[in-house]
Amino acid sequence: MPNSLHANIQTNVNLADYATMALPSTASHFVSVTTLDELKQAIVIAQEQSLPIIVLGEGSNSLFTCDVSALVLHMNISGFEVDASASSDDDIVLVAGAGAHWDDFVQFAIVHNAYGIENLSWIPGAVGAAPIQNIGAYGVELSHVLEWVEVIDLNTAPDFSVRRIYAIECELSYRESIFKQRLKNQVIIIRVAIRLSLSKQFNLNYAALSSYLDDLPTPKDELTLTDIRQAVISIRDSKLPNPEKCPNAGSFFKNPIIPKSQFEKLKQAHANIPNYPVDGDHCKLAAAWLIDQAGWKGKRFGNVGVHEKQALVLVNYNQAQGHELMALAREIQASVHERFGVALEIEPRVYE
Ligand code: FAD
Ligand code: EPU
Repeated sequence: MPNSLHANIQTNVNLADYATMALPSTASHFVSVTTLDELKQAIVIAQEQSLPIIVLGEGSNSLFTCDVSALVLHMNISGFEVDASASSDDDIVLVAGAGAHWDDFVQFAIVHNAYGIENLSWIPGAVGAAPIQNIGAYGVELSHVLEWVEVIDLNTAPDFSVRRIYAIECELSYRESIFKQRLKNQVIIIRVAIRLSLSKQFNLNYAALSSYLDDLPTPKDELTLTDIRQAVISIRDSKLPNPEKCPNAGSFFKNPIIPKSQFEKLKQAHANIPNYPVDGDHCKLAAAWLIDQAGWKGKRFGNVGVHEKQALVLVNYNQAQGHELMALAREIQASVHERFGVALEIEPRVYE
């Protein structure tokens, strides 16, 4: 393969500009790819130079706590389309390039009067990262609509054949997928397809969304896709810090899933503990509530702290170093474990 990409590879790039937590970290090599051909060339260069590859979308779920000796591959393959041949009178299949901005995909769906991802409005990040942790918000997860993802398999040099992985094979669950497990560092997602309904159907069960809509003058059965999108954006805006003004990575920990027997004991001591059913044997707790109850909400420690409106969000107040942030995370984990006996798992991908 003729390789014209060499000239575009930058060295010693500060990743603080490419990740929303804005921690200082130098990448030995960095390249932004806008086509499949460029992507394949970048993989060849990395493999020739024995450089590990770190894929980056918009960096809203990546924590670079140290310098990285790797080729950071910024996925910038964009574009949206309707797959008419896979669509029907009832539903529509929409396809996006992995580098497209997720929220533009939501807007694209709304323009096509397609129902299913309006609750996922305003989640930061690129489309290609959405299947990695099965993004979710306000009662909807990507798993509800995902049709397939197309990937390049890093082990298929020099052709790098494109492979389609159907939703059922992606092993999606709460903040989990095959891409965090068996296929971690093995494939790069290049396109994502979702199947959405063309008939009106909303998911309005999430308490915060439901009560917001109750307060609107519009009756619930007259609400439009745009109304739901605006409601979700408004709720998010009222709780979550804007990474451009206050660097953060959204929820810092996953909501813990614990055995029901453990939950019953916790409930005896904390009658109002929020919980969500998972299956007959497990339930999910709200990490934000645990951290809040442990007294961390709104606390600042030097350059880092816990957001004052959402205890699950750690923030970088002023050019924090990765080790300061991770020290705070560990203290929170220890304190929640001591108080509730529950382990908190960090949600973003940490490079340390
Ligand atoms: P990145 O940080 O660039 O990448 C994340 C991971 O995916 C990395 O491991 C990376 O290597 C991998 N990756 C990225 N692209 C590819 C690709 N093309 N192929 C293979 N691997 C890839 N998440 C939710 O689920 N729900 C929310 O409500 C939510 N709210 C948020 C609010 C804020 C303010 C912030 C900052 C974050 C929030 N997040 C939320 C987390 C984040 O937005 C999502 O995880 C998002 O999908 C990350 O996209 P990204 O492009 O920024 O990912
Ligand atoms: N709560 C507190 N204190 C707080 C914040 C919340 O006690 O400071 C309580 C709330 O009262 C509520 C519960 O915790 O009972 C849950 O709060 P919220 O509805 O805000 O949701 P969350 O569980 O904190 C999750 C996702 C978010 C997603 C929202 C909305 C995880 C790890 N986080 O947050 O995703 O936007 O639900 O669906 O699952 C992200 O992944 O980055 C993210 C922001």
